Amino acid sequence: MVGRVEGKVAFITGAARGQGRSHAVRLAQEGADIIAIDACKPVSGSDQIAPSTPEDLAETAELVKGLGRRIVTAEVDVRDFEALKAAVDSGVEQLGRLDIIVANAGIGNGGATLDQTSEQDWTVMIDINLSGVWKTVKAAVPHLLSGGNGGSIILTSSVGGLKAYPNTGHYIAAKHGVVGLMRTFAVELGQHSIRVNSVHPTNVNTPMFMNEGTMKMFRPDLENPGVEDFRPVAQFMHVLPVGWVEPEDISNAVLFLASDEARYITGLPMTVDAGSTLK
Ligand SMILES: NC(=O)c1ccc[n+]([C@@H]2O[C@H](COP(=O)([O-])OP(=O)(O)OC[C@H]3O[C@@H](n4cnc5c(N)ncnc54)[C@H](O)[C@@H]3O)[C@@H](O)[C@H]2O)c1
Repeated sequence: MVGRVEGKVAFITGAARGQGRSHAVRLAQEGADIIAIDACKPVSGSDQIAPSTPEDLAETAELVKGLGRRIVTAEVDVRDFEALKAAVDSGVEQLGRLDIIVANAGIGNGGATLDQTSEQDWTVMIDINLSGVWKTVKAAVPHLLSGGNGGSIILTSSVGGLKAYPNTGHYIAAKHGVVGLMRTFAVELGQHSIRVNSVHPTNVNTPMFMNEGTMKMFRPDLENPGVEDFRPVAQFMHVLPVGWVEPEDISNAVLFLASDEARYITGLPMTVDAGSTLK
């Protein structure tokens, strides 16, 4: 059976673990080869969760190869345009083409109100979660243009790109900014049959969400809250009876947007949010 993105090549940032790894695997399952990059090291002065590692990225590569697809990996920080460009240029040289860009890399840091957010936390957040997305597309889009086959660009935003929550305003601002990037790239690139959409996940079961800090934020009344303590509180955010979704749920949306099934969909902020934005 022919895969839904058979013979295409996808460039994915933040692919060492979490959603980025899941996107690499899901697209590979449907016939794509992958260019996968990740910083694989601490990226902000105030990291609240363990950073991904070179071993994590190597595991993503093994998973993709196990599906019979090719993968090229590189340790690159999305703040470094020249390194991004070198990685995607080298990947395209090895894999022959580029069709799909998934700008997924991102961080969550801080936990302060906007007026109390440090300049350091603000700058790192905007540099990675907003400017890093712009640099990712800027570095890779020449290959979509020169390929002449159109293409699909998917930017990872968040429910926090469509509505506000307190105590993470720098993240909210960056993720709203991603929608502006998505819409502008969509109107600029549409003439080349390049579609640009964003995905807006609610809580996803990855290290960014499933950690001690999040559990304490949801259950400040408990000293050592565990998964079962914060599940019902997280569920309050949603219409559907779940506290969070799985990385594969976001990957299925990415796959659809990447595939020709979405050939006339562009400029869409697609939620995968269990109804969070309805509340
Ligand atoms: N987990 C959630 O609840 C949730 C919800 C909505 C949106 N998101 C967004 O989804 C995306 C993926 O997050 P995740 O849930 O998989 O988290 P994660 O922490 O498991 O994975 C993020 C990956 O991005 C990489 N990364 C971070 N900064 C980087 C940089 N400067 N350069 C290169 N790589 C970098 C990390 O090393 C890590 O491997 C992020 O943009 C995040 O903001 C996450």
